[in-house]
Amino acid sequence: MTADLLGRLLPAREELAPGAVLLRGHALPVAPALLAAVTAVAAAAPFRRMVTPGGFVMSVAMTNCGAAGWVTDRRGYRYAGTDPQSGGPWPPMPASFRDVASGAAAAAGYPGFEPDACLVNRYEPGARLSPHQDRDEADLAHPIVSVSLGLPATFQFGGPDRRDRLRRVPLAHGDIVVWGGPSRLAFHGVLPLAEGEHPATGNLRINLTFRRAA
Ligand code: SIN
Ligand code: FE2
Repeated sequence: MTADLLGRLLPAREELAPGAVLLRGHALPVAPALLAAVTAVAAAAPFRRMVTPGGFVMSVAMTNCGAAGWVTDRRGYRYAGTDPQSGGPWPPMPASFRDVASGAAAAAGYPGFEPDACLVNRYEPGARLSPHQDRDEADLAHPIVSVSLGLPATFQFGGPDRRDRLRRVPLAHGDIVVWGGPSRLAFHGVLPLAEGEHPATGNLRINLTFRRAA
């Protein structure tokens, strides 16, 4: 059990849906190392607000590390081996990233997960991510591992059909959500980030989304 900010006891492992697991506080011990690595990644590949195929500028700023990076522009969503902004490779995935992703996947029932892509999402107050599926990866047998750092957010998690009810899941600093198997194509999103101040990140939320893209 872990205690949240109000001192309530929460189960450390909660099943959100078949194949989808919330591991509360799982990344807390490594959070400082992860945030230091985010700073290093962003120094090499700066956060940027990408454009959707429909022409909208996303409110979430993004960068990537690893062999492949998720990008969007007017041509569509895809994984790219190079950063379109620099023309060079994405920064390598830090060992601390790989370790936390593999460890969380194993704890959630997906042993042997080796991510080759990490999308780093940066939310300022008001930033949101509308419900979507992660479906640009080659092999959907691998799970998604999503690490929350900094300001809390309300995560929406539904089912494989856009019309499925979205449940609201509060996510705090150090929480990890893993989804795969029957939940691999679940719709998910993030409600507009509330104003706030977090000791580790100031007025930001950082999310690390690990995938096996290739
Ligand atoms: C994502 O779906 O890429 C990000 C989810 C999150 O920020 O929690
Ligand atoms: Fe996603």
